[in-house]
Amino acid sequence: MPATVIVGLQWGDEGKGKTTDFLAEQVAVVVRYQGGDNAGHTVVVGEETVKLQLCPSGVLYPHITSVIGNGVVVNPATLIRELDMLIGKGIDVSKVRVSRSAHVIMPYHVALDKANEARLGGAKVGTTGRGIGPAYGDRAWRLGLRMEDLVVEDRLRERITRALADKNLLLESMGAERFEVEPLVAQCLAWGERLSPHLDDTTWLVQDALRRGDHVLLEGAQGALLDLDHGSYPFVTSSNPVAGGACTGGGIGPLQVDEVIGVMKAYATRVGSGPFPTELLDDTGRGIAERGREFGTVTGRPRRVGWFDTVPLRYAVAVNSASAIVLNKLDILSGIETIKLCVAYEIDGKRTETWPSSGAMLANAIPIYEDFPGWDEPIHDVRSLADLPENARRYVTALEDHAGVPIVFVSVGPERTQTIERAWRPMRHRPGVQA
Ligand code: IMP
Repeated sequence: MPATVIVGLQWGDEGKGKTTDFLAEQVAVVVRYQGGDNAGHTVVVGEETVKLQLCPSGVLYPHITSVIGNGVVVNPATLIRELDMLIGKGIDVSKVRVSRSAHVIMPYHVALDKANEARLGGAKVGTTGRGIGPAYGDRAWRLGLRMEDLVVEDRLRERITRALADKNLLLESMGAERFEVEPLVAQCLAWGERLSPHLDDTTWLVQDALRRGDHVLLEGAQGALLDLDHGSYPFVTSSNPVAGGACTGGGIGPLQVDEVIGVMKAYATRVGSGPFPTELLDDTGRGIAERGREFGTVTGRPRRVGWFDTVPLRYAVAVNSASAIVLNKLDILSGIETIKLCVAYEIDGKRTETWPSSGAMLANAIPIYEDFPGWDEPIHDVRSLADLPENARRYVTALEDHAGVPIVFVSVGPERTQTIERAWRPMRHRPGVQA
């Protein structure tokens, strides 16, 4: 009954797609459990580069059932475009299953997200403008539409009419255009017709797979520091990327989780607004951004870059109960003379090693660094930790000590093969490996 959860330990964009891809051969089902088309990952398979926003990366493998779980908010237009793109590349999408209970991102959610950000001006969150917050808001307010509603005309009309009553007032108050009921009903019915072959009760699908002993991978989007509860609120997304979200949004119970793999980069990045104590605004930061190609997959926005921060790392490991860590993009730090590692903060004159739950405290945090001498040697071809330059090894060991959890993969380049595989607590279903 192995279920493995893959989570981001930073502010998203840690390279979770590469980790899923690395493990894909041994899994039967890959589940997205939260977020929506605010996420984006690029997967390279052979000659093909595929950018995905909603389908889990497993969709590229014919043996994998790809599940969009109940915790995801689905923009049907994006999903249909993505399915068409995949079909155009000769990929079989018949195993893409979408939870009937997943909520729909409606065009008015997108309009509300954009209008609200414009209204907030300098205080904006810097959202991806995909309607994520308003769609989750309607879910909590019980005004949302679920995927199952897309195929029932009467219910659609009733629910859209109810939702639009106050949506239109709000939109007009922000100078945005109103929506009419009937064109939305027609649009939803067209989406429903196209997507109905993919709709499923995905909780039972996942439960049946686990009962059979199939390996299920639950793939988080964004990262722990963007978590609605655990991140730097209000500069967060509107879902729970942490491992607990895999239970509520993927249809499994906490005791069914076998392993939680936390993914992080050798430095930090953040997209959008919000406190970022270790942010680099100098040439070192620009160099990392350039070498690491730190631009958003969805919006193309340049990502903010900073030194690695162990204060939120310890928090992220704790709230996810991460049992193993994947460290990505170590190669991007090659050539930097001195690498700084944030080990604590000074807040209001006091040293703390604890991630503050208050956003205001975080905004006042001054990072306290430990310096690590860098390395010049290229490390793309290194395949064992022992062959890394000594300074790189010291840096990796320091990260591991702070996390208190083994780093099992170190990525030294974008290719799947450019990976150091380390002390690995084997997953039960690894072929040829005794658990
Ligand atoms: P939203 O999820 O579009 O509402 O955006 C809320 C915050 O999460 C903003 O700071 C976004 O930049 C950030 N965010 C959302 N999705 C991602 C992602 O996939 N990677 C990095 N940041 C993200």
